[in-house]
Amino acid sequence: MSSERPMGTTLQQDSAIYLDYNATTPVDPRVFAAMEPYFKDLFGNPASAGHHWGWVAENAIGKARTQVASLIGARPLEITFTGGATESNNWVIFGLLSKLREENPTAPIHFITSQIEHSSIMKAMAAVQKQGVEVDFLPVNKYGQVELETIKKAIKPHTKLMSFIWVNNEIGSINPIPEIAHIAREHQIYLHTDATQAAGKIPVNVTDMGIDLMSFSGHKIYGPKGVGALYIRGKDPKVQLNPLIYGGGQERGLRSGTVNVPAVVGFGVACEICQQNLTAETQHMTELRNFLWQQLQEAIPGVHLNGHPTERSPANLNITLPGIKTEQILPRLQKLGVSTGSACGTGAMVVSHVLRGLGLSTDEVQCSLRLSLGRWTTQEELTKAAQILKNAINK
Ligand SMILES: Cc1ncc(COP(=O)(O)O)c(C=O)c1O
Repeated sequence: MSSERPMGTTLQQDSAIYLDYNATTPVDPRVFAAMEPYFKDLFGNPASAGHHWGWVAENAIGKARTQVASLIGARPLEITFTGGATESNNWVIFGLLSKLREENPTAPIHFITSQIEHSSIMKAMAAVQKQGVEVDFLPVNKYGQVELETIKKAIKPHTKLMSFIWVNNEIGSINPIPEIAHIAREHQIYLHTDATQAAGKIPVNVTDMGIDLMSFSGHKIYGPKGVGALYIRGKDPKVQLNPLIYGGGQERGLRSGTVNVPAVVGFGVACEICQQNLTAETQHMTELRNFLWQQLQEAIPGVHLNGHPTERSPANLNITLPGIKTEQILPRLQKLGVSTGSACGTGAMVVSHVLRGLGLSTDEVQCSLRLSLGRWTTQEELTKAAQILKNAINK
């Protein structure tokens, strides 16, 4: 299943441990090998329809489109390559709004989302709100999941879009997307899901599950950064969005700009590897995650798990340390690549809206840490990580 371990995931000499795979993953060496020729001899522009270099590039994109589609149970032409999930998320919101306004400039429009989405949804929704769209940011339950009853109550006659994150990037909780899709279908509302932390990690089938639009990204699944995709359902119903980016008409006019061929090739191979190993990798991650949780409970009495105990990402733990602000211990965690619930941005403390959305107090958020595991994580590293945390706290 696994390939040669990328050097950067561990600094052998002083045993630093990377446990921030939800932030980004290293490129799998097999992905890198597949990309390399497209930086060198196979450098053509896929839009150059009149010569060999262009055809090679175009074929490579076609193959990648099939690999990406296959991972999520879509048809290749339902996949449009983007610059990542941030772009895909923005595209759905602004592209749909533009289309709806084109069709009927004065009709009221209502979008539904939750309070614990990725900032690319939160901020794009806030932006369209300023443009006159009614937006509901639904609360979540104590596990960080949006409840079906809450959704049903929020639906209005002019609701056009629901957008919910599938697997939360901070707390790992899984939303019941197939059930939500069912509700959306009943009310003829488009369902978009931000599946950036789901695709390649849990089973996803957009066709069977009735999903209309789905965003995901290369660098969360051992592919390169700066590439992602938007799945747009092609039939039953055919979803229509206006482009976000206009220009030379690449990607069937939906997303202009010369396609980043090496990145798209890498994304395709990354998807193929995930698909081939999904079951085994999910099981392995779940075992490792459970092992880490056990180690943490032994090392840190009173540690609390945020998010759902079982309906959660196989590779994520989000914990609140009992009364210990992560800021205080961070200097002693330099050998541990983890991320915190609050961070000092440009002079101001930025507190996670996701943890706040779960009902944690600001103090509790400041005591929270996310540990996320990946393809090359070992049990030995997890034992060490728990020890490092314990020592940092005890000091
Ligand atoms: C759930 C989720 N959505 C969107 C994004 C943005 O993805 P990208 O970095 O590809 O723009 C991320 C990455 O942090 C994420 O975890």
